[in-house]
Amino acid sequence: AAAEKGGHDYFMLKEIEEQPAAVADTLRGHFVDGRIVLDEQRLSDQELRDIDKVFVVACGSSYHSGLVAKYAIEHWTRLPVEVELASEFRYRDPVLDRSTLVVAISQSGETADTLEAVRHAKDQKARVLAVCNTNGAQIPREADAVLYTRTGPEIGVASTKAFLAQMAANLLVGLALAQARGTKYPDEVAREYQDLEAMPAKIEQLLLGMGPVRELARELAASPAVLFLGRHVGYPVALEGALKLKELAYMHAEGFAAGELKHGPIALIEDGLPVIVVMPSPKGRAVLHSKLLSNIREIQARGAVTVVIAEEGDETVRPFADHLVEIPASPSLLQPLLSTVPLQVFAAEVAQTRGYDVDKPRNLAKSVTVE
Ligand code: G6P
Repeated sequence: AAAEKGGHDYFMLKEIEEQPAAVADTLRGHFVDGRIVLDEQRLSDQELRDIDKVFVVACGSSYHSGLVAKYAIEHWTRLPVEVELASEFRYRDPVLDRSTLVVAISQSGETADTLEAVRHAKDQKARVLAVCNTNGAQIPREADAVLYTRTGPEIGVASTKAFLAQMAANLLVGLALAQARGTKYPDEVAREYQDLEAMPAKIEQLLLGMGPVRELARELAASPAVLFLGRHVGYPVALEGALKLKELAYMHAEGFAAGELKHGPIALIEDGLPVIVVMPSPKGRAVLHSKLLSNIREIQARGAVTVVIAEEGDETVRPFADHLVEIPASPSLLQPLLSTVPLQVFAAEVAQTRGYDVDKPRNLAKSVTVE
């Protein structure tokens, strides 16, 4: 069994290590002769051109990957994108028609709410594209088209490698739409793809430096709660970091949009409360960077223990970071492929320090096939 786990105590730890390959394998074969090709698709370029609105539906971590995708898809395609929990989507009356693209994201391809959301979308004549990790599962079978994440089976109940692969796949969907609609020139699409292709090596590099994150996790493992703050694509990363800590370590954890700090969350700050902040790039997102910097200052002044995830070479955060976790520089929209990783490692290590089985957290199932 130890061999199956690649020398790790848990599958999840092995799956965290497999993330560079998960992303690389998901991208492989989708950029051919200067064009993005979603080869498992049965949606024509004409059908993609006719899309005038995108809904992303999913649950759990898959939903968070959709939240990340919204920033890129809107920016690249100028299409409005709504991201919705599948369980909410299906019980209201969303406005859908044949020019709506519904992207259903599901690792297992069997999640009941996501499947029902797909069925509802199809009833309303919307086009459905599944992003799925499981060949031939129910959701890809019922969708019009499918883009597979190619991570191999994910055993750990809490999603890690599938989540990173989903983010990469969602970006391919965004580039395919931009290419079909002509909102990006071919050389721009190629450049974005090359940036994406450079990510697995950066994830690899990041994974080599996780020792201090594990040490920090052991130090903070007895905290009653942890808050996560982020902005822009860092906001869904904060939500995912909090979800991982809840799932694995049974710790009270909340993710907030940092801009909302003064609208409530700052009231929670007290002496010794760990707050993990996902910093945007100081170059790529200078305005947001400076706003987050002042947020960190405010919470540190109120006694929070600040843990800052920041781009390598970001010296401005140093004075306000009680603990600094550096990630390689990357284009802003791709940063979640990096910033998520230390949060996964952190949650897994807190859980292990507390003596929990990180592959099989209490009360949770790998795939929720009944409501
Ligand atoms: C469960 C799993 C999560 C997963 C979610 C959605 O809650 O524990 O890790 O993100 O289901 O699953 P899906 O298979 O639809 O991506």
